[in-house]
Amino acid sequence: MSVSLIQKYNVAGPRYTSYPTVPYWDESEFTISSWKIHVQNSFNNSNKKEGISLYIHLPFCESMCTFCGCNKRITKRHDVENPYITAVLKEWNLYCDLLVKQPIIKEIHLGGGTPTFFSPENLERLIEGLFERAIKANEHEFSFEGHPNNTTRSHLQKLHDLGFRRVSFGVQDYAPKVQEAIHRIQPFHNVAKVTFWAREIGYTSVSHDLIYGLPFQTLDDVIDTIDKTNSLQPDRLAFYSYAHVPWLKGNGQRGFKEVDLPRDDVKRTLYEEGKKRLAQNGYHEIGMDHFALESDSMFQSFKEGTLHRNFMGYTSSKTELMIGLGVSSISDSWTCFAQNVKTIEEYYERLKVNELPVFRGHELTPEDIIIRQHILNLMCQFQTTWNDTAMRFVELPDVILQLKEMENDKLLIISKHSLTVTEKGKPFVRNICMAFDLRLKRKVPHTELFSMTI
Ligand SMILES: C[S@@+](CC[C@H](N)C(=O)[O-])C[C@H]1O[C@@H](n2cnc3c(N)ncnc32)[C@H](O)[C@@H]1O
Ligand code: SF4
Repeated sequence: MSVSLIQKYNVAGPRYTSYPTVPYWDESEFTISSWKIHVQNSFNNSNKKEGISLYIHLPFCESMCTFCGCNKRITKRHDVENPYITAVLKEWNLYCDLLVKQPIIKEIHLGGGTPTFFSPENLERLIEGLFERAIKANEHEFSFEGHPNNTTRSHLQKLHDLGFRRVSFGVQDYAPKVQEAIHRIQPFHNVAKVTFWAREIGYTSVSHDLIYGLPFQTLDDVIDTIDKTNSLQPDRLAFYSYAHVPWLKGNGQRGFKEVDLPRDDVKRTLYEEGKKRLAQNGYHEIGMDHFALESDSMFQSFKEGTLHRNFMGYTSSKTELMIGLGVSSISDSWTCFAQNVKTIEEYYERLKVNELPVFRGHELTPEDIIIRQHILNLMCQFQTTWNDTAMRFVELPDVILQLKEMENDKLLIISKHSLTVTEKGKPFVRNICMAFDLRLKRKVPHTELFSMTI
């Protein structure tokens, strides 16, 4: 990829796990009572068809990784586990009280923080607590994020017994210098061990998270990390661009200096070489930053055009209602988003008085829903169409005009009623989505909100 393209398109931009993106929500129209109605309506549609999804945020970590952009609380005290699970179950009960019948749960994702900070027994209490008022869908998809340093065989076994078949492990990079800088010492044999256990126990999809663009990371480090990863053959891989957003997370990302980060052009080489090596080993790019072997169900969904993206990242099925439980979680009823308070203290306070711990949200307008579908199409299929008049909006001609320049740069092909992202354009998919992002265009941010797109 040419340096001039990187310079031209490397701007701050959203990762589009939602549209509108969180900084562009119109919070003024949002109330908790209206959110409850959205949940009830969406539930009635969703439960009849595919069931609902749950995202559960488990925020604790024993040690702080200095690159991390997630919402987490660092502690070594495990007596925090029980009260937190009690609170999450209370929140779940508040939602169940709104619903006319027992929900059918199609998807559960345990994210964090570090879900495996919790003991297997406490995770069991959580999952069994959920099913006191819910039914497990026949074809359910339950997944969790595990830290290779503290995932035990007993975690994997217990969660498998409870119906989990997918696990993703945070790897990032194997180079000792990088691991030291990000304050995350994690030898290869830890990752190998948990990967083997997961396979032995019967997990059908094991995923590894890798990052390029970390402090002190060189091309040799990325190649070595990918070679080691290939030797374990995870079914899926996330190969994330390091998102440097220190303004969001206080001191969390200050474990190294800006000059220790690879330059933009170097970072792009890390990505391109990494991607090349992944392809040589049978991994297909199925969406932004995500790769899968042909045998993995997410590759099948990509092929069939049924891949979906939400706050959990990519998923192979779409449910209309996703309820986010736990501190900072975001829920999505398709017509409305709602986010929970971000500190554990506020979360407990709100639940103590039997209130949903939501603090902000956004009701989608008809225009938002059309734009959201275009952005989803681009992120999940690298193409979108406006054949159907329901997919058109007033500014569409302006958007197409704006995309002409990217077409000249051979990043995409525009035909009468559709747009297809080229191979060359795939790394710029966030930039292409930004052309559709009417809310972003109408209010250019004055402060830093997003990480760089490249
Ligand atoms: C919640 S963590 C995974 C589970 C567990 N806490 C662990 O670290 O192994 C989710 C993933 O987000 C990614 N991540 C976190 N901060 C990031 C950042 N600033 N830029 C890019 N990816 C990031 C990492 O790859 C990490 O594995
Ligand atoms: S990367 Fe994982 S373990 Fe490290 S601080 Fe973030 S959430 Fe916690």
